[in-house]
Amino acid sequence: MKAKLRVLQLDASASPAASSSRKLGQRLLEKLGESADIELRVRDLNHDLSFIDSDWVGANLTAAAEREPAQVERLLFSDALIDELKWADRIVLTTPMYNFSVPATLKAWIDLVCRAGVTFRYTPDGPVGLLQGKSAHIVITTGGVPLGSPADFLSGYLRQIFGFIGIDDVELIAADRMNVDAEASFAGALEQIESVDARVAA
Ligand SMILES: Cc1cc2nc3c(=O)[nH]c(=O)nc-3n(C[C@H](O)[C@H](O)[C@H](O)COP(=O)(O)O)c2cc1C
Repeated sequence: MKAKLRVLQLDASASPAASSSRKLGQRLLEKLGESADIELRVRDLNHDLSFIDSDWVGANLTAAAEREPAQVERLLFSDALIDELKWADRIVLTTPMYNFSVPATLKAWIDLVCRAGVTFRYTPDGPVGLLQGKSAHIVITTGGVPLGSPADFLSGYLRQIFGFIGIDDVELIAADRMNVDAEASFAGALEQIESVDARVAA
């Protein structure tokens, strides 16, 4: 019998219909499904995301027990995004590189899920991530920038963010430089996906 795996799929491309990162994400999910019984939740980051503002920051900085009803309300969407992360064993994030880094929708999601006392806490030795026992596959596509090059402010940043909230077990899958040789780039990422095993890690 296949083991159960709760997967949260997060998609950041602003062009869903033709998105190469999403196509790779779909193949990755099929691959995971070969060795696990997948329970899937999907969140398209093009919908419902909003930027944090002063009310949100004020609510977040107020101790939970002391929040006004409006402040509790203001944090509900952020709470829901974090609950999805807590629910998941595995996160599959698909994202293109936009202007050398993350799409703004993904940055909005990051700002909503990185919360002191909820997804990380400060200690005398530095911050500690609170979302333990999870792993992530991050599928990245780029037009011209090689992954790991000095102009790649995306992959290291995403590793940092996931590690910051406790998810250190991160695998990067990249179809980089799609504008140079799309076919070879896509094929390389597919090859990497073929070696993914749902049973590895959490
Ligand atoms: C607004 C925008 C900004 C982009 N910025 C970059 C960039 O800085 N570097 C790069 O290599 N590619 C950049 N690209 C190209 C995309 O990363 C590339 O086309 C990627 O394959 C798109 O993935 P998708 O098909 O999943 O949407 C950009 C594309 C768009 C639409």
